[in-house]
Amino acid sequence: MQSLLRLLQDGQFHSGEELGAAVGVSRAAIWKRLQALEAEFDLQVHKVRGRGYRLETPLSLLDIDLLTASSSFPVILLQQVDSTNAQALRHLASGAVPPFLVIAEQQTAGRGRRGRSWASPFGENLYYSLVLRVSGGMRQLEGLSLVVGLALLQALREAGVENAGLKWPNDLLVDGRKVAGILLELSGDPADICHVVIGIGVNINMRVAPRDEAIDQPWTSLRQVVGGQVDRNGFVASLNRQLQHYLQLHQTHGFASLREQWEANHLWQGRAAVLAAGLQSVQGRVLGVDDTGALRLEVEGQEKVFSGGELSLRLRDDS
Ligand code: BTN
Repeated sequence: MQSLLRLLQDGQFHSGEELGAAVGVSRAAIWKRLQALEAEFDLQVHKVRGRGYRLETPLSLLDIDLLTASSSFPVILLQQVDSTNAQALRHLASGAVPPFLVIAEQQTAGRGRRGRSWASPFGENLYYSLVLRVSGGMRQLEGLSLVVGLALLQALREAGVENAGLKWPNDLLVDGRKVAGILLELSGDPADICHVVIGIGVNINMRVAPRDEAIDQPWTSLRQVVGGQVDRNGFVASLNRQLQHYLQLHQTHGFASLREQWEANHLWQGRAAVLAAGLQSVQGRVLGVDDTGALRLEVEGQEKVFSGGELSLRLRDDS
């Protein structure tokens, strides 16, 4: 299946003969294989008499050799998985030693923050889970997800997205639309030795929301912003590099050293906002973050600090 898709990913016509020879089946059997591909990965293949077959939409498939070459840790590339974060946690539980990276072409149960799902169609976006060992206690986790946001922001800029910014705690937005998200999951004892799964989802080449999954917030993709297909292997290489740089700074100097840079890229600095935690909410003006990455809000003239993975921030209508 993979070799067929690899040939077809350019979106050009390929004859049944060429495809049959490449995968070692008869010309007649090719159409059956292509129909199976269509069903499995929700793809559309066009068949034109005399010209052959082509994918309706070209793909930029992930390539394990390129991914490995750009990573300083082992890479596991899966075609389909429930969630790369879940897979990374299972891999840890079965004794795998971090650091390692799990990437998939498709997630069938991608996880977002606050119990949401994350739309994860085949071959279009990036589903990336990096597992690291954390041995410095809580301090090494403070502000970590915000630092990952900064690294991701730089990778987006390298890919040509100039007007991306951050929204506390770790959403990446372009013109008010979400382009990427981060979900950290811990395993072990945060006060002692633990492991962190840094889950990153980036809408790279997505044009439309997947048929069976409505996306419950405004979204965009790199393709929509830069106006053309983006090389996903190249994007991973850039993300690996930026993460290495920022994680190193974070480990050595802590979040405090990156706080100013984070605030400079925070889209909602100074804005009137509502912070929601379940059914409770607090209104205030966004002052920024503190040295642990917690949100600083001015509430009725006083500075208040909020932290926690279940919080979400939205703009107040009148801001
Ligand atoms: C968010 O809600 O903003 C966080 C989205 C995180 C999605 C990524 S995709 C790779 C990794 N695996 C998952 O199941 N979730 C994260």
